[in-house]
Amino acid sequence: MVIRMEEPQDYFNVESMIKRAFWNVNAPGCDEHYLTHCLRRHPDYLPGLSRVLERDGQIIAAVFYTRACLVDDSGYEKEILTFGPLAVEPSFQRQGYGKALLAHTFEAAKAQGYDAIVIFGHPGNYVSRGFVSCRRKNISLKNGAFPAAMLVKELVPGALDSRHWYYRESAAYDVDPAGYDAFDQAFEQYVPKTEPRQEEFYIYSHSALTR
Ligand SMILES: CC(C)(COP(=O)(O)OP(=O)(O)OC[C@H]1O[C@@H](n2cnc3c(N)ncnc32)[C@H](O)[C@@H]1OP(=O)(O)O)[C@@H](O)C(=O)NCCC(=O)NCCS
Repeated sequence: MVIRMEEPQDYFNVESMIKRAFWNVNAPGCDEHYLTHCLRRHPDYLPGLSRVLERDGQIIAAVFYTRACLVDDSGYEKEILTFGPLAVEPSFQRQGYGKALLAHTFEAAKAQGYDAIVIFGHPGNYVSRGFVSCRRKNISLKNGAFPAAMLVKELVPGALDSRHWYYRESAAYDVDPAGYDAFDQAFEQYVPKTEPRQEEFYIYSHSALTR
């Protein structure tokens, strides 16, 4: 197993793997391979922290990091990290590769001076990686809401004191869907389907903690 930075010649294989990993998971079809393509061009994207995982010369997992920000009530801005997409080739899922990729990049992030990560994700994938609800660290959205899927990990214990923060995600994730169809033509085509697991995504992505 080799964990390394992504090179331009990897892009198509990585995007193809991401498409296979996300297809019909959160909704019929997926756009995470297109998101990855757009993310790489954004100034907040962090190629020095993003990684691919190779096994026998094949890329089977990847994670993409971006700068994000916490803002306290006085307007002070703290630079933190977010990541996504995180994807593992379907036939290699649930074998520890996602965990290995996260553990590796958490150490790299600490070495680069970052002390916290906020993500939106399925809690079941992340609580065993040290993520907790943002509610526990008093981190809300700007409107005061605490989405159930908004999770935080302190890379350095105690990095976030008890003050209230709001999370400002990078505009890198505001992808214009207009370019999707042309971009996707280069990839293998699959059938979009409605599946029960998409309801799980709908529920947790529309939920918030109230106390
Ligand atoms: C989510 C994903 C990145 C996880 O990577 P992975 O390599 O499959 O997961 P790992 O084997 O490293 O396990 C990670 C955790 O998942 C959970 N997990 C493992 N096997 C599981 C199973 N069969 N069922 C449910 N949860 C399981 C565990 O909490 C595990 O942590 P543990 O090792 O402490 O028990 C990967 O499955 C994937 O690409 N899924 C599709 C795309 C996606 O949903 N990406 C994340 C968006 S939030």
